Amino acid sequence: MKLQNCLNQLFRTFACQLVLGLFLLPGLAQSQNLLTNTPGRHSLSLGGSWNYIVDPYQTGYYNYRLEPYDQQKEPSTSAFFMNHHARDKTELVEYDFDKSASMTLPGDWNSQKENLQYYEGTVWFKRSFDYPDLRAGRRLFVYFGAVNYRAEVYLNGHKLGLHEGGFTPFNFELTTLLRPRDNFLVVKVDNQRFKEAVPTLNTDWWNYGGITREVSLIEEPPTFIQDYLIQLKKNDGNTLAGHVRLNAAPDGEAVQIEIPELGLKHQLVTHGGYAEFEIPAGKISYWSPESPKLYEVLVSTRHQRLREDIGFRTISTAGPNILLNGKSIYLRGISIHEENAQRGGRAYSEADALVALTWAKELGCNYVRLAHYPHNEHMLRLADKMGLLVWEEIPVYWTVDFASAAALKSARQQLTEAITRDKNRASIIIWSMANETPPSDLRNHFLRKLIEHSKTLDTTRLLSAALERHEDKGDPSTQIIDDAIGEQLDIVAFNQYIGWYGGKPEDAPKVKWDIRFNKPVLMSEFGGSALQGLHGARDERWTEEYQEYLYQQTLLMVQAMPQLRGLSPWILSDFRSPKRLLPGIQDGWNRKGLISNRGIKKKAFFTLRAFYDKMATQYP
Ligand code: GCU
Repeated sequence: MKLQNCLNQLFRTFACQLVLGLFLLPGLAQSQNLLTNTPGRHSLSLGGSWNYIVDPYQTGYYNYRLEPYDQQKEPSTSAFFMNHHARDKTELVEYDFDKSASMTLPGDWNSQKENLQYYEGTVWFKRSFDYPDLRAGRRLFVYFGAVNYRAEVYLNGHKLGLHEGGFTPFNFELTTLLRPRDNFLVVKVDNQRFKEAVPTLNTDWWNYGGITREVSLIEEPPTFIQDYLIQLKKNDGNTLAGHVRLNAAPDGEAVQIEIPELGLKHQLVTHGGYAEFEIPAGKISYWSPESPKLYEVLVSTRHQRLREDIGFRTISTAGPNILLNGKSIYLRGISIHEENAQRGGRAYSEADALVALTWAKELGCNYVRLAHYPHNEHMLRLADKMGLLVWEEIPVYWTVDFASAAALKSARQQLTEAITRDKNRASIIIWSMANETPPSDLRNHFLRKLIEHSKTLDTTRLLSAALERHEDKGDPSTQIIDDAIGEQLDIVAFNQYIGWYGGKPEDAPKVKWDIRFNKPVLMSEFGGSALQGLHGARDERWTEEYQEYLYQQTLLMVQAMPQLRGLSPWILSDFRSPKRLLPGIQDGWNRKGLISNRGIKKKAFFTLRAFYDKMATQYP
């Protein structure tokens, strides 16, 4: 009997792999079944030294007729993913990973290798590893936190799949291709910008390329817990609601959800590997910035138990107010890019996240806008722990190709991956669909599609986008916010740069705002540049005094805007941008940070902190 069960189980596992393979391999599988709560799983990091080959002509991918090697029945040994070595002195092989340079992963290539600082194109990475102890029936996945922009992944010469999008995770199963020793994982990374990509050709941030976040091998039982949502029901602080999804589970497989501190134990029976639930929450302490209470949550089956720290809070709106746990709040925020300015590269670690979020706390923030793409998971889990509310955004930025089906597919997929990864984070209250996209029918259609899609993934959070204002033709001192897409959003947010890209700082308090929505409004960006240490008159651009004065004047205006429910000034620290080229001042850095790229606070940092200290007493 027992043998029969094992055989059935094996058949089921193999069957679903076969199905996956049949449908996806020909179409070069996109990672479909994202593993969530990876820190809670049995994993082995593949971080460390990887060999790499810089391949601007994609010589390791195409033959001289530009036919892709991985489309060939028997891929040529010239294909870099074959990791081939000359068998003898007569054989012609024109690459060798093991004799090639290496770099440390995770990490972008631009900040690690001087000659790759401006490089955009293909780089191949290879990592060899042994995995002798995979017990019979168990499954192995390779998980990438993020690879910018296009990743094609191969194991032992076989293609596992492809992923596009530089800021969200993906994983592939490699169980059937694995061998106990001498496995070689090869990743072709291409960060070439192109029109239909998301983001598209033009961004005001550095296009860091590479395997920018952790890579790990994750071992799972034959049937495993793929993903789950456990949060308070929308507008109901007394009911926990959500779902559990199992992978390759027989019908009727049981799942248990436990929250020991609440004395909560709930049994579920899945059908087709899926089950939804609603459970009375009991005497729950709500998560908030003032008390970021997290509960140990256990999700288990007869094969596996996953543990995670999760906070519970409700978030909603009422007219112009944002209600956290039913109470109106003011978002004292700052915008942040995912960069460790002092190291000069993409941020990826918990230590990087701690630097940025500690600065935000020092500033008096209860909220951060993570711009303009999903940041690494450490940022969100630390925001949960430190008590910082979060705006998370996908990189539908400026002039994305709104007519392109491929662009919409990519944006939708990035939204899926971001929400799938982060839906249990109490800190995240806002999903943002876009930043400074020019209103048009095509654009509105594009964003509406994303808004609809996000509601199929998570109904508990608020939706927004960073919109733009325009002047009232009849009265230039009046600024209008009337972007039609605002109707579909829960929160209307806008960026404005009065005193920097137009007018003088002292014009700000004179501005009249005509905001055509009875919804909560956020000023998602404002600011001006200053080179830290450069001092002068307050009307002298690039000085700390100019930036300080701009903040003083803007905050006067802010206090006269009754509908505003929060701010996220641009930006916490100076960051690299290929668009900022003024010698001796910018030198490749956007200088709108309140903190320099050497970690030194500018005068305006203290202006904003004083304002937030005051707001915190007014709006506890
Ligand atoms: C824009 C944009 C940012 C940019 C900033 C700036 O509004 O959203 O990505 O860096 O302004 O001009 O500094």
